[in-house]
Amino acid sequence: MNFDKITDRRGTHCAKWDMMEPLYGVAPDDGLAMWVADTDFEVPEVVSARLREMADHGIYGYANLESDYKAAIQWWMEHRHGWQVDADAIFTTTGLVNGVGLCLDTFTEAGDGIVLFTPVYHAFAKVIRLAGREVVECPMVVQDGRYTMDFAAYDAQMTGREKMVILCSPHNPGGRVWTRDELQAVAAFCKRHDLLLISDEIHHDLVFGGARHIPMSLAAPEISDRLIMLTAPSKTFNFAGLHTGQVILPDEGLRAQFRRRMLAIYLQGNSAGETATIAAYSPEGVAYVEALVPYLDGNRRLFDAAVNAIPGLKSMELQSTYLAWVDFSGTGMSREEFTRRVEQGARIAANHGTTFGSGGESCLRFNLGTQRARVQEACERLTQAFADLQ
Ligand SMILES: Cc1ncc(COP(=O)(O)O)c(C=O)c1O
Repeated sequence: MNFDKITDRRGTHCAKWDMMEPLYGVAPDDGLAMWVADTDFEVPEVVSARLREMADHGIYGYANLESDYKAAIQWWMEHRHGWQVDADAIFTTTGLVNGVGLCLDTFTEAGDGIVLFTPVYHAFAKVIRLAGREVVECPMVVQDGRYTMDFAAYDAQMTGREKMVILCSPHNPGGRVWTRDELQAVAAFCKRHDLLLISDEIHHDLVFGGARHIPMSLAAPEISDRLIMLTAPSKTFNFAGLHTGQVILPDEGLRAQFRRRMLAIYLQGNSAGETATIAAYSPEGVAYVEALVPYLDGNRRLFDAAVNAIPGLKSMELQSTYLAWVDFSGTGMSREEFTRRVEQGARIAANHGTTFGSGGESCLRFNLGTQRARVQEACERLTQAFADLQ
């Protein structure tokens, strides 16, 4: 594993590098792609080897991978997260946004309110609105430099039309790893207001600095009859393009409803994604994660030290994810001005905070899942772009 190795992704139909010019006006020749959330790292060799075998075999007919695939997921969840998952609880979707869309479709109705703790991963609001449901924003509060939730305020906000909460655990953006008490408070909130809870745990493997991710299923088993767990190997191992994620339903009743919906649209996993999952959820995959996490930790420390040295900029201390969340409000600049300096001055494509909902207006999100040399380069360019503030 050499995370310093630069593999040129330009011109490979890669969204992150090939779409940054049309979307951000940052040319890929000397620009830095720090937006969409995949990494610039090659997958573990065990995954490449298994996919090469598949390609060499040369036939991609209907597959029968289910039992190996589910066994690999069960092994990973138990081994890495101390969570025992029933094989019958696992459903495969073409990624987790697809999983959220299907849950909205199966468990809610047009006009229902869906609660989001904002700012949060932008695709949630997008699919909620496209499904004809209503986004109910519950803004998080920054306390001691970290996001926290304010349930007294959220209780007062509820109208009775809300049907579901989508929690991001760990949280994107901002990288909070929610404590057991916080998870229990979310669970109690869901019970108080009779809400289903989706816990999207896609970032669960990438946790730093002594924080410990607790699967919601373990933190609050008492709400398993209203709980929908989402997991995927794609962020950890960098194969989001294989579109394979899991909806895990502890409750038999929710399972039966979801199974009917899956059958009705005949949604099935794909053999490349399932093969990659089996390969990744293995001791070789563990070794990859155990090398990746300290590397990402080094990236975030480097980035935070440089960015926080620029007057007016504040990078939130990540407990998880490789997605740095930088607040520019201390500069007093307009959104257009700080964004212009980053895109045109530093030649960096970073996600616009406005897309993450309330609370993101003065922020940009920088993807640090890249080679250390590129993070270093980004630090130098940002320092330069805001040099007049020193
Ligand atoms: C919290 C969260 N959920 C889901 C996704 C995307 O999942 P998928 O590619 O499986 O649809 C992301 C990607 O950044 C994410 O951060």
